[in-house]
Amino acid sequence: MTEFERIVILTGAGISAESGIDTFRSAGGLWEQHRVEDVATPEGFARNPDLVLGFYDARREALANAAPNPAHLALARLEREFSGDLLLVTQNVDDLHERGGSARVLHMHGELKSALCQSCETRSRWERTMLDRPPCPVCRAPTLRPDVVWFGEMPYQMGRITRALEACDLFVSIGTSGAVYPAAGFVQEARANGAATLELNLEPSEGSHFFSESRHGAAGQLVPEWVDEVLRG
Ligand code: OAD
Repeated sequence: MTEFERIVILTGAGISAESGIDTFRSAGGLWEQHRVEDVATPEGFARNPDLVLGFYDARREALANAAPNPAHLALARLEREFSGDLLLVTQNVDDLHERGGSARVLHMHGELKSALCQSCETRSRWERTMLDRPPCPVCRAPTLRPDVVWFGEMPYQMGRITRALEACDLFVSIGTSGAVYPAAGFVQEARANGAATLELNLEPSEGSHFFSESRHGAAGQLVPEWVDEVLRG
């Protein structure tokens, strides 16, 4: 694990599990508590905006009680100390990578602490509730929605991610079930371009067989160990 110069890392809900944030597909996870169609689709939002705004308000509030864990901290250390190119892509809408010290995080599924105005399309930093229909800070219309990518919508910055996957020599997937595309396909894109591929996950993901190496265990342990390996050089 020493010879790499261009690393792309993809993280998912599993990296925040030890911080107390619910994952989606584990027993008792978010998708057992709520129907995806109701809270994570544009159609669900059109049908019942109060339900959707309340769901994301509660998830945003829950962030206040969560703190970054050793896996987030280790990736921040990697960003500071790795001399090559590093792109950290997360599917997570929490802000634990940033609070762990990562300065450059690409949130492909959006962010809980961002609002998207449906009138002027401005994305604004947002820490408060939305259920009370606050005005957009830019155009003043009461048309904010969570700046979260729902099923049927295009994830953010796919062009940049694709270019990084084409150029990387190592792709690392951390704490993601590999159930949701396009992120689930990143391993195959990286492999097709000759990169080594490593999975760090509690259990084999759905796409585990695509990786050249898989390590299974808690991110809070596996990620710091792997970062140590890379930085030891
Ligand atoms: P999932 O809930 O589908 O998967 C989480 C993965 O993390 C599982 O494979 C777990 O085994 C693993 N895991 C759990 N605890 C862990 C730990 N302590 N250490 C390491 N791994 C652990 O979450 P995602 O793969 O992130 O999208 O889900 C992908 C997307 O599906 C989300 O971004 C969201 C969701 O629907 C949208 O809402 C658009």
